[in-house]
Order: sequence, then C-alpha cells, then structure tokens
Amino acid sequence: MHNSKITGVGKYLPEKIVTNFDLEKIMDTSDAWIRERTGIIERRFVNPDIETTSYMGAEASKKALKMAGLKPQDIDFIIFATLSADYFFPGAGCPMQIHLGIPGIGAMDIRNQCTGFLYGLATADQFIKTGMYKNILVVGSESHSAGLNMTTQGRDVAVLFGDGAGAVVLSATDEKNKGILVNKLHADGTYARELCVINPGSFTHPIVSHKDIDEGTIYPYMNGKYVFKHAITRFPEVILESLESAGLTIGEVDLVIPHQANQRITEAVQIRLGLPKEKVYSNIHKYGNTTAASIPIAMTDALEEGLIHDNDLISLASFGSGFTWAASLLKW
Ligand code: UT7
Repeated sequence: MHNSKITGVGKYLPEKIVTNFDLEKIMDTSDAWIRERTGIIERRFVNPDIETTSYMGAEASKKALKMAGLKPQDIDFIIFATLSADYFFPGAGCPMQIHLGIPGIGAMDIRNQCTGFLYGLATADQFIKTGMYKNILVVGSESHSAGLNMTTQGRDVAVLFGDGAGAVVLSATDEKNKGILVNKLHADGTYARELCVINPGSFTHPIVSHKDIDEGTIYPYMNGKYVFKHAITRFPEVILESLESAGLTIGEVDLVIPHQANQRITEAVQIRLGLPKEKVYSNIHKYGNTTAASIPIAMTDALEEGLIHDNDLISLASFGSGFTWAASLLKW
C-alpha cells in the first residue's frame, strides 16, 4: 500500500481588497468591532466577470502543479470542496477541468463547508492508498461575496467572509512515515440549522421563491455564539483524537494550521491545547474566513513564510456548518 503526501500547494486571491473601512460605508459596522471580535482587517472579493469559483480553483491548482513538477495531464482525479460553486449544479470540479484543459478525468465536489477541504483530503488519501489514483488535485475555493447580505441586516455574517482559493496535489509515495498519517472526520446534523443557507434548497417547494428572496433565506444564517462555543470544544478534541490514533502527543506537533474562522477561536484553541502562539498559524487578518479555501491558503502562506520544514508534524483541523469537524495529521 502506498502512502500519500502533499507534493504541491498553491493559492489564488482576487486582487480586489475590501477593508473593514470599506464595509463601514455600506453597513452599520466598524473597523474596531470587526478587529476586536474576529481579528479580520481585510478580505478579498472577486471580479465577477472573471473570477468564478472554478477559475480561482484552477489558478490555485496551476501553482500547486508547478510546485509538484507536474502538468495538468498528470492529474488522475479532482476533488473540489466549495459551498459557492459556479452553478447550483453541476459541481465546480467540472468547469475547473476545462480551465485546466483536462476534460475526461473524474471530478467530484464535496459539500462540507468549512471542513470540505479536509473531507476532500481524506477522500483523496483513500484513493491513493488503495492504488486507484497516483496524483489528485484537492481544491477549496469560494466566491462568498456573491451570496452575502451586504446590508446592516446581514452584518453579523457579511463581515466575516472573503473570497479565494487554495489547492494541493496529493501524490502516491513509497516513503514510510511520510505524508498523511491520520484523518478524523465527524458530523452532527442535529445542528444543521445553526449555520446554513436554506434557499435554494428542496426543504422548500419550489427550491427558491420571491418570498424567500424577500425574507433573506437565500443568505447565510449563523447562530454565532452557539457556533463559537462548539468550535472551541471540537477543534482541540479532534486534534487530540488524531494524535492519539497516531500514537503521538501535542508536544510533538510543529505547526497547527486551523481553518481560519475567527482569531478568537484560533486563540482559544491554542490555549486549550497548551501551545505557544507561534505553533498555531493565523492569516485571518488578510483574507477573512474563506471556508473550504482557508486551510490550503494558510498552508501555502505558512510554507512561503518558512514555517513548514521537511519532516515537520503538521496538524490541520476544521469546524463548521453541518456541524462538521475534522483533522488530518501529516508528516511533511
Ligand atoms: O467558519 C464557520 C464557523 N463560523 C464560526 O466559527 C463563527 C463563530 N462565531 C463568531 O465568530 C462570533 O460569534 C461572531 C464574530 C460571529 C460574533 O461575535 P459575538 O461576540 O458573538 O457577537 P454577537 O453576535 O453577540 O453580537 C454582539 C453585538 C450585537 O449587538 P447587541 O445585541 O449587543 O446590541 C450585534 O448586533 O454586536 C452586534 N453586531 C455587530 N456590530 C457591528 C453583530 N455584527 C456586527 C457587526 N458590526 N458586523
């Protein structure tokens, strides 16, 4: 049986920077509120004429392919995590193939929101370990700005999210004790309505109506405090669970790269794990919460900043809508 390891990472962020001060002009919010409650200073928003979710995924993938020393034609399969695909259906993996010029190979979308990238990584890991595929693109990409209520009514959610994409190439390797060591995936649908977009959705008939648009159920709803409380419990729990099943301890981890949901969540997780600040990566101030894209973007930034070295033990973890939560442990 092969191991699977990340051989390339890449990110794509739209050029357009939207600061907290820009948001002050369109809704009743303030730079101080956003910074204090979330740590976010700015985020990126797409140019909708060019930067679709699949386009951004393809651009991030090209960088990951370059780092891996591979061509698009070397890829056997695509796993695309997003909650803001180009179309309601088909999934964004299909149009991304066309941007990359590789129609024909399998492409699968994952709908697990903030944990989508880790569900995708775990799925790719299984395909590689069974020998079915050698090189898989795992992509997280979001165009949140298309689906936010950018008025005072939607401010509790709108100020949190940003657009962008990240991608990794996961490749088969015969090296021992390298690459992905463990994946832990969890979900509890009891909490589905605590963080959701209801329409378009078949919970209502038809999937979207004028009434839904008027009532704002086409926008994300979040019970912020409730999500926060669950997040700070589940993050450390799933990280420790993954370490335990690998026979490792938190003291052996070189870097935790958590989903970037809120700086206060990241700090609470760091304290609960008893880690020093520099061992828990954060870049939320630059991009906000990019949901499925946040972990591969953060991995790319951490690598560029020289924070990841050969043989480092890296813990990736996430929590979000579903509720879903997950962790992967890798030896770089
Ligand atoms: O990635 C998916 C997972 N998502 C998360 O993990 C997010 C988890 N939740 C959170 O990060 C936090 O709950 C938020 C950042 C969303 C909110 O922070 P909070 O400290 O829980 O604030 P709050 O919702 O209790 O709101 C406090 C006050 C309210 O006013 P009153 O009722 O005290 O008068 C809100 O109306 O802040 C008000 N408020 C705002 N004020 C200015 C809410 N949003 C804003 C805003 N600007 N954007």
